[in-house]
Amino acid sequence: MTQKLTLGVMDSGVGGLTILKELVHKMPNCNYLYLGDTANLPYGSKSKDEILFFNKNILNFFIKQGVNDVVIACNTTSALTYEDLKKEFEPKGLKIFPLIQSIVKSAIEGLNDGDCICVLSTLATANSKKYSSEIHKLNPNIKVVEIPCSGFVEIVENRKYDTPEAYKLVEEKMQIVLENKAKRVILGCTHYPYLICLLEKFAPREIFFNPSCALADEVSSRLECDTTKGKIDFYVTKDPLEFKQSAKLFFDIQDEVKCIKMPKFNQV
Ligand code: DGL
Repeated sequence: MTQKLTLGVMDSGVGGLTILKELVHKMPNCNYLYLGDTANLPYGSKSKDEILFFNKNILNFFIKQGVNDVVIACNTTSALTYEDLKKEFEPKGLKIFPLIQSIVKSAIEGLNDGDCICVLSTLATANSKKYSSEIHKLNPNIKVVEIPCSGFVEIVENRKYDTPEAYKLVEEKMQIVLENKAKRVILGCTHYPYLICLLEKFAPREIFFNPSCALADEVSSRLECDTTKGKIDFYVTKDPLEFKQSAKLFFDIQDEVKCIKMPKFNQV
């Protein structure tokens, strides 16, 4: 009998659950190990060196737990460190699915030359210009406007959706979308689908592209699971109860969320 396929899914916090939900929907017969690096969030305001340090610890943890394949359910990681991770970990036998690189083709489907697409993302993702470069590889005539949305992740992790501050922050960013007459808006951070009710106060829901389906399609087309239902194990690096509370919009986690310690990043 072959061993059940175990997929590692990682993010800084509850954002990656928007991806996990679709993966489980498409591939219910895999085992999943979800890791939210809550001790180190938000990733989006940190340097590449820091994020790489966190990512390597997570992938080493996955290897120890018997993970076969890893889904990077984090735009910031996909933008900044995927290439380094691939170089180091694929020779060790881990297959890695990055988010941005796997979904841009679907994200621009139906758009024409001259159309504008906006990308809401963390500061680090916006600064990397990864969305622009990946989209322009496919069509250099699409206008890409990358909008850094510092503060959105904290709204989600702290469940502050209904505050005037959250409304103001979202309004400010959506103003840029409207000024650019965007045909589509990519939710370029996996935390942002939690904000859809707030975002759609400023534009119709159909304009927003949530990458989770496209990523799950890509992963499921390249992996094979067996025929018995799998299980999900949840891990965080801090505050498992907070994680459970913030996760609720996408996952009502009944099981224990285990807390693990990771080495600290010490800049030299
Ligand atoms: N959810 C992640 C992303 O897609 C990271 C957000 C953060 O921790 O800043 O970019």
